[in-house]
Amino acid sequence: CGIVGYVGPQPALGVVVDGLKRLEYRGYDSAGVAVLTDGRMETEKRAGKLANLKSALAETPRSTDGIGIGHTRWATHGAPTDVNAHPHVDNDNRVAVIHNGIIENFAALRLELEERGCKFSSETDTEVTAHLLGEAVKEQGDDLAAAMRAVCRRLEGAFTLVAMYAGDPDLVIAARRNSPLVVGRGDGENFLASDVAAFIDHTRDAVELGQDQVVELRRDSVTVTDYDGNPAPVREYHVDWDASAAEKGGYEYFMLKEIVEQPQAVADTLLGRVGVDGTLTLDEMRLAPSELREIEKIVIIACGTSYHAGLIAKYAIEHWCRVPCEVEVASEFRYRDPILNRQTMVIAISQSGESMDTLMAVRYAREQRARVLAICNVNGSTIPRESDGVLYTHAGPEVGVAATKTFLTQLVACYLIGLYLAQVRNTKFGDEVNAVIEQLARMPEQVERVLGTVGPVRELARSLADSRTVLFLGRHVGYPVALEGALKLKELAYMHAEAFAAGELKHGPIALIEDGLPVVVVVPSREGRGVLHDKIVSNIQEIRARGARTIVIAEEDDETVRPFADELIGIPAVPTLLQPIIASVPMQVFACELALAKGNDVDQPRNLAKSVTVE
Ligand code: G6P
Repeated sequence: CGIVGYVGPQPALGVVVDGLKRLEYRGYDSAGVAVLTDGRMETEKRAGKLANLKSALAETPRSTDGIGIGHTRWATHGAPTDVNAHPHVDNDNRVAVIHNGIIENFAALRLELEERGCKFSSETDTEVTAHLLGEAVKEQGDDLAAAMRAVCRRLEGAFTLVAMYAGDPDLVIAARRNSPLVVGRGDGENFLASDVAAFIDHTRDAVELGQDQVVELRRDSVTVTDYDGNPAPVREYHVDWDASAAEKGGYEYFMLKEIVEQPQAVADTLLGRVGVDGTLTLDEMRLAPSELREIEKIVIIACGTSYHAGLIAKYAIEHWCRVPCEVEVASEFRYRDPILNRQTMVIAISQSGESMDTLMAVRYAREQRARVLAICNVNGSTIPRESDGVLYTHAGPEVGVAATKTFLTQLVACYLIGLYLAQVRNTKFGDEVNAVIEQLARMPEQVERVLGTVGPVRELARSLADSRTVLFLGRHVGYPVALEGALKLKELAYMHAEAFAAGELKHGPIALIEDGLPVVVVVPSREGRGVLHDKIVSNIQEIRARGARTIVIAEEDDETVRPFADELIGIPAVPTLLQPIIASVPMQVFACELALAKGNDVDQPRNLAKSVTVE
């Protein structure tokens, strides 16, 4: 969910709604705002996208005071309806609350409140906090901050709560446990949001909040305490990108812009890390070479697209570093009693740094004394804060829900870690490592080249808009690339898409092949692993013999594959292990274009959210 809060001299409504616009990618099932108009609490909320809320607001023009909160929701408890949308208010309509997360003991709290005569109007877990705060603020002599602290002590689960009270029109109060929350410091005005994008038009000075902290936001002050009211430490930072980075810049969709930004994103992630002589500098990893030499096992945890980056990393890390490497979806990891110790390095990959599944896995790993290294794109987010070290991907803000440029930069970060580890551990692959580093540095231009040749992929995608199923095949690193290609198609085109290891096809899935079924095949580079290349060429023939329409992604001058490809998508020749960086690009374009042909919103696909802060 996305959260915005504002206190200052401007009429709050406009500031809050503009902020929500920037956060809509975090959830778009419903949206709502609470403002004061001449000291009176007013809320407006609507199911569906922010546009619905905007038209409802336009029906009743109002001049609001300088305080307001807003929310854009990804539904957990209760369907995405008008009543279940946030904010929720207490029975006196004096306190309004918005919430991100899940309050696990809400059923017991609701019963207790109903016994005291409280009337509920929604099915949400959030509404209990509005009533609890309404009661507490009276008990605490109108002190909303004290009321918030008292309420937080009673809540179980993960939550960020933001509230305002008609009795104190200069105060927005927020409490944070697990879900993200940052403060934007302005001049005579202050902001709160789940992400700096919400206030980047107003200020780039941000304050990162820690776990279990309460912040009191007034026009001229920002006070942070723990749940007992003791002053709490905070970290201030300056956001290193500006509003234009979070805008569409002439593209119809953020996703289209973000695909095009990939050469730059890859270059920015490499910047300052690869020296001209091939030395790697990864200081922010905060893990000393001596520690890296002690590692006996690597475990990668992540969700969604980030998980696919992890799968690719395994091939590279095990090959270059000769360290066993496991990869697991974060939501499964801690529930199966994994074997971890001080000699295990856990790599947590998360674009947002906020996925709750990954965060919980990180905490579990640290409890087991593993060293945790995060790969994240969002500065100061929770996962890097709680990890021993971090390697940031410098992709800039990604707004489209389906990851593109952050995926490519995650791959770069994984390669950098693998290559660095290989150097530090002095494996026998020294020459290969040096050659790969050289090639890695050239990836921005290779991605640029691929982008220059994807026109036919767009046409092909449009021609397949009526297909019911698309299959994807790959071998070696091409297999996770295929998985990612299928995920993109599911997310964006709402189409059945499935990926298989090409060698596994004959053990079952080949039964799916029928006349005209589109099958996308990623052909491994011919370099080094020629045998894999030849095997997949045979697999292509097997499916073609059974009627499949073969769409083949292969090196542009690969003549051996051409006779069996109904469509050939050429990519430059690069070392096998680096091929996913370029082979993924036509897949992204394919899924995006096919979804657009079906009339889907590629930035905000149905049912999804960019950052999922619940388990
Ligand atoms: C959500 C998004 C996916 C993303 C996944 C992991 O489910 O819809 O696109 O890959 O979260 O996100 P993270 O921020 O942890 O990389």
